Amino acid sequence: MGNKQEILAQYEGNRTEFADVALARPYPEIFTDNNSLPIKNFGTQFASIIEPYVDEIQNQLSDPTNVLIRQFYDNKVVRVTLKDNAIINPIVNYFEELFGRRANKILVNRGYPSTVPSYQSLDECDQNNYWLSQFWHIDNFPNESLSLGIYLNDVDIGGGQFEHITNPNYYFYNRFTEGRSLSRISNLILDQDDIVPIVGPKFTVFAFVANFIHRGTFSRDTMRDFIRIRFD
Ligand SMILES: [Fe+2]
Repeated sequence: MGNKQEILAQYEGNRTEFADVALARPYPEIFTDNNSLPIKNFGTQFASIIEPYVDEIQNQLSDPTNVLIRQFYDNKVVRVTLKDNAIINPIVNYFEELFGRRANKILVNRGYPSTVPSYQSLDECDQNNYWLSQFWHIDNFPNESLSLGIYLNDVDIGGGQFEHITNPNYYFYNRFTEGRSLSRISNLILDQDDIVPIVGPKFTVFAFVANFIHRGTFSRDTMRDFIRIRFD
């Protein structure tokens, strides 16, 4: 059983309708596209931009000298990140131009299938060896910031899918604490029908304003390679 009502009541003072957010700079038209949701799934329409680089990205992710290990579990690697993102410069440049914004944070990740527990509470995990983005949270970035997610392989349920709450326009929040990069919604448990998973074939691209309730999920069945770009 979920506890959405009880937990989210505590955050009601910070909640705002995404459609009512006042912006110093408007979002690019390709993102808003006449609707006012904080997430837009572009599907595979940018596949030809990404495809030329995917083999080399995946070669680099497979080479232990090119990656930082971010998490271990049971003596196995859970997640790695490329040390040098130069390989994706052409992809970053393309989206910088498309959005009219500068990228300010780039991550190229691989999640290996893992049995690491999906904890519900921060108290249960070692915060130095755990992926905190798997807790429900908002990123607590300025609302002007746009983020982009790119799947480099097919992602289905159990494949490390990104997930968000239903009606993300409603469950959108002003920054909880100035200066913090991430705010966990501690102990929130959502029923399955309150969760929207983002699944799709490789080269699926989605853009979002990360202050609605969302999370990453661990890869369980298949490896997941993922590009995350945050724009100013
Ligand atoms: Fe996040």
